[in-house]
Amino acid sequence: MAEIRVENLQKNFGDFVAVKQSSFTINDGEFFVMLGPSGCGKTTTLRMIAGLEMPTEGKIYLDDEDVTFLPGSRRDIAFVFQLFALYPHMNVRRNIDFPLRIQRLPRKEIRQRTQEVAEMLRIDHLLNQPVGGLSSGDRQRVALGRAIIRKAKAFLLDEPLGALDAEFRDLMCEELLLLHKRVSATSVYVTHDQVEAMLMADRICVMNNAEVLQIDAPLEIYERPKTKFVAGFIGTPSMNFLKAKGSLAPGQSEIEVNGVSVKIPKTHESLDNAEAIVGARPEHLSLGDDGSLRGEVFAIEYMGARQMVTVDTEAGRLKVRVPNTIKVRYGETVGLSFDSEKLLVFNPETDKAVNSTLFDGAIS
Ligand SMILES: Nc1ncnc2c1ncn2[C@@H]1O[C@H](COP(=O)(O)OP(=O)(O)OP(=O)(O)O)[C@@H](O)[C@H]1O
Ligand SMILES: [Mg+2]
Repeated sequence: MAEIRVENLQKNFGDFVAVKQSSFTINDGEFFVMLGPSGCGKTTTLRMIAGLEMPTEGKIYLDDEDVTFLPGSRRDIAFVFQLFALYPHMNVRRNIDFPLRIQRLPRKEIRQRTQEVAEMLRIDHLLNQPVGGLSSGDRQRVALGRAIIRKAKAFLLDEPLGALDAEFRDLMCEELLLLHKRVSATSVYVTHDQVEAMLMADRICVMNNAEVLQIDAPLEIYERPKTKFVAGFIGTPSMNFLKAKGSLAPGQSEIEVNGVSVKIPKTHESLDNAEAIVGARPEHLSLGDDGSLRGEVFAIEYMGARQMVTVDTEAGRLKVRVPNTIKVRYGETVGLSFDSEKLLVFNPETDKAVNSTLFDGAIS
């Protein structure tokens, strides 16, 4: 087990910057998820940590040892790729025990550890089968088996569930977490799926355009996003964004949306733009006759105990999550009220939140 620390990590491919000045620490035993849209630099970051890619700038430490220039083979880190590359001519056992045979461990030990790992992954009954005929879930278990059999200091997993169908992904998410708890190894897990990230992470590291934007626990990221990008990327359906009047002084606790004054948690910095953006999650809006904003019901989706109501307002199309006991009809005019304590305000020029309960206490 190990702590992984990267400092000012940068990777350029020619003129193109794939990872820009990343600095963060992954704690010993942590399940750390790197999340971001395609092309934001997740795999490149992971490959640098693994030693498969040399950084252009910056340092990588494994338990305080500077491994920046150490070849991958000497870093004692296991890597699981998205497309699980199994050796097609070997059976399940040979695929799993491969790293131990390379290390030339005694046969008896290899057999014992292979059995343990296979039992843990519930594929011990498949050990002597060829990998060719396996289901994608079992193939992924074999790939995981090969990674964990080494007892590496850390595990790097690059979208390991990407090739599985939805139902299997949920199952494998749970299995991976259980496995993580049993092995309790430092794990860095890459995904572009925010649901997966929310479900699994101790902390989520959100990246966009080669940069790390925020690193926090899932709930913290959900409730206190530091930028509009993070706010919009996390949550299904996405946070509602409304245009508001952009002139705000520090400590202000009201904002004008569509000509109506709406209460907000106090701003911590001034905003001097033509426009501001108010962010409201669907559960932070409610329906009533006398809301501060009015609109017409465009769609209703039932989701068990809750329903998602889409309302067209002058401030745009908004999603509202309400209990299904509230009766609404298509085309009906409804009022919308905001849960004022939860609203976020963003500066559209910098993308940053200018108010947030994140800054509790900053302004009295
Ligand atoms: N060897 C390379 N040469 C040139 N550009 C590269 C190379 N490897 C990656 N890139 C570019 O760097 C950027 C980041 O790539 P990376 O694979 O890290 O993204 P990612 O976040 O893992 O995306 P995805 O979710 O699609 O896997 C992309 O624009 C990619 O095209
Ligand atoms: Mg990738």
